[in-house]
Amino acid sequence: MNNITEIKESRISNPFNPGSIDYTLDLESEIKKLKKEMNAVILAHYYQESEIQDLADFIGDSLQLSQEAAKTDADVIVFAGVHFMAETAKILNPDKLVLLPDLNAGCSLAEGCPAPLLKKFMERYPDHLLISYINCSAEVKALSDIICTSSNAVKIVNQLPPEQKIIFAPDKNLGKYVMKKSGRDMVLWQGSCIVHETFSDKKITKLKFEHPDALLIAHPECEESVLSKADYIGSTSGLLKFVTESEKNKFIVATEPGIIHQMLLKSKGKIFIPAPPESNCNCNECPYMKLNTLEKLYLCMRDRKPEITMDNEIMKKALKPLQRMLDMSK
Ligand code: 13P
Ligand code: SF4
Repeated sequence: MNNITEIKESRISNPFNPGSIDYTLDLESEIKKLKKEMNAVILAHYYQESEIQDLADFIGDSLQLSQEAAKTDADVIVFAGVHFMAETAKILNPDKLVLLPDLNAGCSLAEGCPAPLLKKFMERYPDHLLISYINCSAEVKALSDIICTSSNAVKIVNQLPPEQKIIFAPDKNLGKYVMKKSGRDMVLWQGSCIVHETFSDKKITKLKFEHPDALLIAHPECEESVLSKADYIGSTSGLLKFVTESEKNKFIVATEPGIIHQMLLKSKGKIFIPAPPESNCNCNECPYMKLNTLEKLYLCMRDRKPEITMDNEIMKKALKPLQRMLDMSK
């Protein structure tokens, strides 16, 4: 057996290579080839592995990705992100094929807010409007009046009449941040992101002391104790814009470190220090986002699966609050 055959055969019998990838292939050029053949667009979130970001046609935060999905004329949307993002793309494009490299790429916020429980919760507040953070299931979107993302939540809440009562779900940290910025009271669903809650307040304070010239930048999914120390708070695209435009050279980044790839590309020579988690683990990395790999990206395009499918009624109901968000974000 020559070397190449050996590699091929060992991969084929490997249970961790379920799609039987021929590893002698140059996956990057295969993906580019498939993209042309399928008339596909690859949309990627900033938390994806850098090799996936480098292959994407568009990289963005969740608002930008849904805006891009809403206007694409590609036949196939390959979503390198998590399930709720691909679901959003499907709701906006019910007739297109939407692929997600790994269907298990979920989100702790979406999983912590099941629609039947939220429905029961809403019964306690019959005169309230439901604003849902886009990090939720299609079923929760279908129950919602308006969807928001971390980049437009304050703007959307500020457009509602002051007497309008609001339930905000599922992220309590973003909810608290919006309450502070808008000066309004809201009823909050008590969900949180397992990644953004992991940042250690103590270690960040120590880092700030060791790097007095660094600015602390944070995503609003972080806890109040971190946000209160931040020099800038924003969505992933907001954080990227801030570091690119800032005159400062050093930043402590309190969000998933996948974004540092674009920060380094867009602001050469600047220094980015990932905010550390409480324990000595990699738990500042989103385990769901990282389920997507280059191999799975290739396989989903080669096999045209796994595909995002949904109940038609749910899709129709979920489209309304999503469309409202897109209109209110202009
Ligand atoms: P952005 O909307 O800022 O991209 O955030 C999405 C997300 O899942 C953050 O954890
Ligand atoms: Fe969900 Fe948090 Fe991962 Fe974002 S980082 S996808 S909010 S689990």
